[in-house]
Parts: sequence; C-alpha cells; structure tokens
Amino acid sequence: MFKLVSVIFFIIMASGCHGDWWETMQLYQIYPRSFLDSDGDGIGDLKGIPERLSYFDDIGVNAVWLSPIFVSPMKDFGYDISDFYKIAEEYGTIDDLKRILTEAKKLDIKILLDFVPNHSSDQCEWFQKSIRKEPGFENFYVWHPGRENPAGGRRLPPSNWVSVFRNSAWTWHPVRQEYYLHQFLPEQPDLNYRDPNVVAEMKNVLRFWLSVGVDGFRVDAIPHLVEVDVDATGNYPDEPLSGATDDENDYSYLEHIHTREREETFSMVYDWRKTLDDYASETQTSSKVLLMEAMSDVDIVMQYYGNATHEGAHFPFNFLLAFLNKEAKANKLKQSIDEWFSKIPEGRVTNWVAGNHDQPRLATRYGPERSDGVVMMAMLLPGVSVTYQGEEIGMENFYLSYEDTQDPQACKDGPDMYNITSRDPARTPFQWNTTKNSGFSDADKTWLPVADNYLTLNLDSQLKAPASAYKMYEALAQLRRTEAIQNGSFQIEALNDDVLVFTRTSGFETYVVVINTDKDNLTVNLRSKFPNLDNDLIISTTSVKSPKIPGFVVSANNLELVGYEALVLRSIS
Ligand code: GLC
Ligand code: MG
Repeated sequence: MFKLVSVIFFIIMASGCHGDWWETMQLYQIYPRSFLDSDGDGIGDLKGIPERLSYFDDIGVNAVWLSPIFVSPMKDFGYDISDFYKIAEEYGTIDDLKRILTEAKKLDIKILLDFVPNHSSDQCEWFQKSIRKEPGFENFYVWHPGRENPAGGRRLPPSNWVSVFRNSAWTWHPVRQEYYLHQFLPEQPDLNYRDPNVVAEMKNVLRFWLSVGVDGFRVDAIPHLVEVDVDATGNYPDEPLSGATDDENDYSYLEHIHTREREETFSMVYDWRKTLDDYASETQTSSKVLLMEAMSDVDIVMQYYGNATHEGAHFPFNFLLAFLNKEAKANKLKQSIDEWFSKIPEGRVTNWVAGNHDQPRLATRYGPERSDGVVMMAMLLPGVSVTYQGEEIGMENFYLSYEDTQDPQACKDGPDMYNITSRDPARTPFQWNTTKNSGFSDADKTWLPVADNYLTLNLDSQLKAPASAYKMYEALAQLRRTEAIQNGSFQIEALNDDVLVFTRTSGFETYVVVINTDKDNLTVNLRSKFPNLDNDLIISTTSVKSPKIPGFVVSANNLELVGYEALVLRSIS
C-alpha cells in the first residue's frame, strides 16, 4: 500500500531528488537491546533486525542508527565499551551486522553505528595496559597523582570536578596509585585525547567500521571529549560553583568551564569529518555522516557544524523538542523552533529530535493526547526527522519497580529517588503484538519488563485499527516524500496562546500543520497570520482522536478545533 501510494506521489512530484541522501533523511534510532530478541535470552539482538527492515521501509525510514552493539560489561548498557572492534556476544556477530547491511542496502536504508569516543570500559584492554603503564598506553587515560592531603594519608582528588552520574569525576586506582578521570561511571574511564596514540586508535575504529560497510556514526557525549590540561604547576584547576544546588555530588553543582566543549574537542570533530570524507572519496562511495550528541546551549551546539575553514559534523542533534513537555504551549514551541533556525549557520541542515533512550518518552512528556502534534512537527519541519524506537506507535514511559531497575544512573539514587533519574521507563521492549512479551521475546524474563499496556498499545493492533498512532506516522512518512516537505519554503506562527501553525510550500502545493496545544475546543482564522492561504483546505492527516476525516474540506478563516487536535491540511491553488 505504502509503495503504491508513494509511486503515485512520485509521479505527482515528478521532480526527482535533491541534495545528498542524508539531508532530508528520516532517521530511526534502534535501541537493539529492546528491539527484538531472536534467541530467547530476554535481550534484543542483531539477528532479529533484518527480518524487520521491511517495517522501516513501510514507514518511510531511510536511515537507521543502532545504539552501541560492541563488547561491553553493560554497566551503562553498551556505552561502556571493552572492545571497540567486536560485537557483543549477546547481540550477535559481525556476520549478523553484515547481514543487516546487505539487507538494508537492498531497501536503500543506510545504517549508522554509535561511536563512543569519550571513554571506554574499565575492562577494556587499553585501560588494563594503562594501569600497568605498558609502553604506548602510559597516557591513554587521564591519570594524576592527586593533591597532597594536609591531614596526611591518601592524596586527595586532583580537582573538584563532578561526574555526570554524580560524585567525584576522579577515582583512585590502587594498582597504579593514581587517580583517573571519568565524566560518567567509574567503570567508564575517559580516554586522553592529548595522547596521539588515542587519536590514532580512535580514527582506526572509525575506519574499521566504515570498511565493514556502515554509512556513518552518531557520536556519543561529545562535549566531554577533552578537558583543560594541567597548569604550570602540574595541577588541574577547580571549577567554580554554579549556585544551582547545594549538593556537591550533583553535576550541576559546578560551572563546567574546564571540562566541556573545549577548542580541542571541536578540532577533533573536524578531523573525524575529514576521516569520513576521505574514506568516502577513496572508496567512491556515498557520503558517510557524523551526527553529534551534545546536550549544551544551542549557541555552543552550533559550533559542531564547523566554520569557515572546517567542515564539522553533518549536524548536531537538535534536542530542543526533546527537552520540552506538556507545559509548552504554542509560543513556547514556536520559540524553540525559531531558536534553531536563528542560530544555525548558513546553508546547514536542520533536524528534529523529540525523544531518545535518555529522555522520558515523547508521549509521556507531552501527554498522549498531545504527542500526535509533536510527531507531526518532527516529521514535517524542514530537514531531517529523527524517530526513537516506539515513538511511531506512541509508546509511553513504563515505570519499573526498584528491583527491576537496571539503569546505573538510577540504581545509585536508591529506592526512594530512582524514578526521578531512571532512563529505563523509555527503554522497555518494543511492543509488537499481543502475544507473550508483546512479541519481543520468548524468554520468561526479559532484561527490562514489557510495559503493562502492551495488550492495547502495540503495532499489530494499530495496523488493524482504522486510526492509530502508527497509521498517522505512516501517512506523515508519505507526506515527507512530497516536494513541499522535502524542499518547500517554511513559515511558522502562533495564532494565539494555544494554536501553533506552520506551512510548507512548493509551487502550487501548500501543507498547513495546525496544532491545538490546549484541552478546550476553539475556532481560529488561519488567514489572520497566513493571508495568502486559500479558504478551502483539504484535510490530509489528523491526530488519532480528531473527529475530522481526511479528504473533507475545511475553511481556513473559520476552522474549528477540538481540544489537542492536530491537523495537516493541504491546498492546491
Ligand atoms: C550519552 C548516551 C547515554 C550514556 C552517556 C555515557 O549521553 O546517550 O546513554 O549514558 O552518553 O556514555
Ligand atoms: Mg537475544
């Protein structure tokens, strides 16, 4: 069905393709551990993916990013890598990855991997060698003897720096008799980019996976890559207090002027970009992309795009929609979209992320009744859209007991506080159908429990239902293929406190997205802010609960909306 419709669209558009493959891609984040378990151990794996690639094709996805699949003690579920060149046994083998690449190629779906350059696992051979100061590995990590303790006894940590996951960012190592730095868990020691051996090794990692055939990388936790060097006296400077909290073990206790987004970090990104570009030109293959994960101020994030002299990342993720929630009314949404547009360097590609494996689920943050409008935004705003596994069926947070909780960030907070920081509620297994474990796994116990709403919220039921989150997503994916959404002009306005409207226009075709962020019914005049709009607009796609029917006509200057309704309207003039 999708194929047929897209063929028709293609004929209507007639104008063929533009730009490079990634510039308007619909990127989907797979969290492999929770996607599909093919061997019944309760843990998702790679073998399950090829048979589901056609699913992505159905929903228009043309690029997939896999969260880390490498050998890891799983202290931070793969973001603690002990062998950067090998796939974790519980996920499969390199042949399983190659199968994914082969099958994906047939469907013209690009595959990206997660690149975690800031740290390794403490179980990594490199760290073990560094502990023993083996030749070539002496400075592979950030080691320091610490400050003298005026009271005598063990030396004190080199500085007051705090880890993102709480407590000192320095841990004493009894064998090397020195402190080592870790921006995340003590089991995730930071690699030292002042050591040319590290720089060379990590480029090698990139080249290795490129040679296996992947199309690019999502780069993890990039702001933390390089810290300030020691001063003339051989010491690290403390960071000033931020005043945000009295809790000295909390990351926000300090202003991170010495440990985030240093010039050396941006230079490294520019260098990696060159590594990827060189690889693509040497092998005469399509562009290999670099996407940055940077949770920082937008002004700083923009620097990852590069500058006049250097190409940087293809884009840094735009998390502005991922940080908002049900409080955000029309103006707030507009502001956050405007912010990205006003700060993006000339000629660069925009992108929209409304959720990922680190944030509460989109449907829970905005409320299930409002999430359809946010999905419309992520799918129809200019540039790249990013979908986190499960968003296309409106999966919600599932709150786990403390006993079932796995996220290290939450386990540290104890039974009373864990649900505030836990990322597990957004990581539960994909809800495929109404069978055991929602079709995710045959195991009696899955690594995280399946959300208890799976009997009513699952892909299979949504495929059968006349209206569902899935059906809406599928329709939006079809719209994405039109010239207006791929390349059309863009205008956005808040009609009032409650209603956000944006248009995408190409030639005679305009799509109008109308989102009511309020619970009450209201009537609006779209032409008050969009005077050039036709009065008669055809309903193209609606939020799941909308009473309106696609194909019918509504009036632009007298448009009635029910509470939380979201619509895509179309005019051809
Ligand atoms: C990134 C990942 C997160 C991980 C952290 C440390 O923020 O998205 O899941 O815990 O980096 O690697
Ligand atoms: Mg498995």
